[in-house]
Amino acid sequence: MSKTRPEGLARGLTDYGDPAFSLYLRRSFALSTGLSAELLSRPVVGIATSSSGFNNCHRHFPELLDAVKRGVLAAGGLPLEFPTISLGEVFLHPTSLKYRNLMSMDVEEMIRAQPMDAVVLMGGCDKTVPAQLMGAASAGVPAVQLVGGPMMTARHRGERLGACTDCRRYWAQYRANKVSAVEINEVESRLATTAGTCAVMGTASTMACLAEALGMSLPGTAAIPAVHADRLRAAEATGRAAVRLMANGIAPRQVMTPSAIENALRVLLAIGGSTNAIIHLAAIAGRIGTEVSLTRLNELSDTTPVLVNLKPSGEHYMEDFYAAGGMSAVLRELRPLLNLDCVSVTGEALAARLDAEQALYVDRAVIRPAHDPVAPVGGLVALFGSLAPRGAILKRSAADQSLFESEGRAVVFESLQDLALRIDRDDLEVSPGDFLVLKHAGPTSESGMPEAGYLPIPGKLARSGVKDMVRISDARMSGTAFGTVVLHVTPEAAAGGPLALVKSGDRIAISVSKRRIDLLVDERELARRRQAPGSQAYRPARGYARLYAEHVLQADQGCDFDFLQGS
Ligand code: FES
Repeated sequence: MSKTRPEGLARGLTDYGDPAFSLYLRRSFALSTGLSAELLSRPVVGIATSSSGFNNCHRHFPELLDAVKRGVLAAGGLPLEFPTISLGEVFLHPTSLKYRNLMSMDVEEMIRAQPMDAVVLMGGCDKTVPAQLMGAASAGVPAVQLVGGPMMTARHRGERLGACTDCRRYWAQYRANKVSAVEINEVESRLATTAGTCAVMGTASTMACLAEALGMSLPGTAAIPAVHADRLRAAEATGRAAVRLMANGIAPRQVMTPSAIENALRVLLAIGGSTNAIIHLAAIAGRIGTEVSLTRLNELSDTTPVLVNLKPSGEHYMEDFYAAGGMSAVLRELRPLLNLDCVSVTGEALAARLDAEQALYVDRAVIRPAHDPVAPVGGLVALFGSLAPRGAILKRSAADQSLFESEGRAVVFESLQDLALRIDRDDLEVSPGDFLVLKHAGPTSESGMPEAGYLPIPGKLARSGVKDMVRISDARMSGTAFGTVVLHVTPEAAAGGPLALVKSGDRIAISVSKRRIDLLVDERELARRRQAPGSQAYRPARGYARLYAEHVLQADQGCDFDFLQGS
């Protein structure tokens, strides 16, 4: 670290017009914490904690925090934790994505405003990790990510259960009258039974893997279960790494480069990861002045095999992924496709990491070799066409292939409220070959792009055994869901996208092989529909909701705020 710049508590002094007095005052107040002058003179590692009573996934963070502090102290730094907003996925209304940018601003500003030479980012639940990576990219202080790790699975009547693919599976069976009210209540207490993030390759696990692929977490730490002793050792090692990182002076933008983002996209495809990660990677890319091209995503998808056999696309759970070899095994299989000169927070290039890990064990039932993959092409694909000029996303690894080349009659729901009112009505005019369409659930809608794209199968069809249908929306989908679900239609309906013009009875065609999604309505009719008054745009009067509505970008730009992009 440069000796010409102030370090530790001398950084970023409070402005009283007399810097010497500001430092004197800060030191005197710091002494009131009871820490020794020797400790207070050390370089400072801030620890951004996102612990909260409203975040069950982070309930082990106090213990993890102790371990991080231990590592920082042992390496010669002073650990000082600070709280930020937490985003407990299932406790936020209307949806956690709406608050990701708020958390990223909190993280960025508190890193910048407080005197720290490096920062450890402690996150886990879905949107917390991208929020921290976005904030750290903008703040510019050396940063290392520590994720909370996944939950363990539990048992129900001899069957293994894990949040939250099994939550959705059981709920679908309950809706179809295949599971009783008594049993669904039993299952409720067996889905999420330990600290940690969802037990499958949902958004949290995907982002944990991508943080490691980006080089922002220590090698081998993404998949360690939350309650495993290795997780505490990873936390201690992360604290030590933060001290080394400040000495090396490696800023997040030197780690999260365009090449590293491309590596992360490869990994996303190979692990059959969450569609939400496309949005988060696009937002991170925007913070470093680049973009995630959905056309490029398709090129990568066609040349990246799915290697990981995990729910929701496959069979296993995150604890199995860790035992099977975790991210190291995935990266080694992908080696010929990766940018190997990318440097991680350890200061080591990816090539050197993989050289050192060549001989590690791999369980091939969970992590397949590249020459014998789970699927020969990537898990996600972008569709373009008259219905989605700027793209839409399909998780083909979690979808029914028999629907990939199909045409259907649209059954349209104008909003989430309309969906809730009509989806289970027996007089809903719908048959199994129809395409369900949900509008006004995109980024600028009142609900802030909820995970509502996994529209339920209409009650009467579910009861007759229908398990999947084509579903199209400008919403998102939980990373733990399964189905032929076309998401993130861009531009969204509320921003004047063609989705707004679709009416029940229209024909829609999708072709996954041609990467197309088209509304089969002639242009004169569409022009006529454009003249009709549209629905009122959501324009809140004040506060964060107003800031959000005025500045949120579309899904292909990561739903970040326009004024947060770039440097
Ligand atoms: Fe926190 Fe799934 S609810 S990771």
